[in-house]
Amino acid sequence: MGNGIDQALSADWPYPRLVAHRIGGRLAPENTLAGFDACIRFGYRMIEFDAKLSSDNQVFLLHDDNLNRTTNGRGPAAQHTWQQLASLDAGAWFDVRFKDERLPTLAQVAARCEREAIAANIEIKPCPGRDEITGRLVALAAKDLWRARKPLLSSFSFDALKAARDAVPSLPCGMLFDALPRDWLRIVRELACASLHANHRHLTQQNVRAMRDAGLRVLAYTVNDPARARELAKWGVDMICTDRLDMIGEDVVS
Ligand code: G3P
Ligand code: MG
Repeated sequence: MGNGIDQALSADWPYPRLVAHRIGGRLAPENTLAGFDACIRFGYRMIEFDAKLSSDNQVFLLHDDNLNRTTNGRGPAAQHTWQQLASLDAGAWFDVRFKDERLPTLAQVAARCEREAIAANIEIKPCPGRDEITGRLVALAAKDLWRARKPLLSSFSFDALKAARDAVPSLPCGMLFDALPRDWLRIVRELACASLHANHRHLTQQNVRAMRDAGLRVLAYTVNDPARARELAKWGVDMICTDRLDMIGEDVVS
């Protein structure tokens, strides 16, 4: 077992190296409970998923702002009540085998995480204009729903992550970037982030070292090539977020 794995499961950082993107990666409809079966099949012990609010402030899972791509609904998610969203099919678009899969609530996901001892990275993905309220309500809900292991919160939205941190300072936060801004260190310090989550295409051995030297944990997304996953792990990247649960296992990153 590599040094990085020992470190990854230490008391201050109780998260494994491998993280299943959108719960089931490419093996199940994204952001649905069906993805848990894929995680368990391939030995994944941590998931990432996208959380947002319905018009009546239910926290539920969906990646896009609108319903068109991954459900049989249409239009902006933020204009639908939870009762309307709960009746949608969120599985058939992916494969007929998953017909009748529903959009899950954060509470349903938390229950599965606790039952299966799977850690969570909750990506706060606000609908347009709803950054602060989404950050706050996700953090408050997460604090009450997870008992065994604190979920790691992250967001591309500075305002959402700040609201989450202000609401529940005890939950670890990670700022999400695509291209790294020049002032990434100022931003993560302002939010007291425990981790930095970066598009792996923008990571180099040098900037990973700078992040680690700044005391940050590093998550790289979305790494679907085993050789690249191995390289990032060698550089000291703490978490590899991947769709390829079937191709990237502990043997690749340890
Ligand atoms: O949190 C990592 C990754 O999920 C960010 O990108 O678009 O898949 O949510 P996206
Ligand atoms: Mg995400």
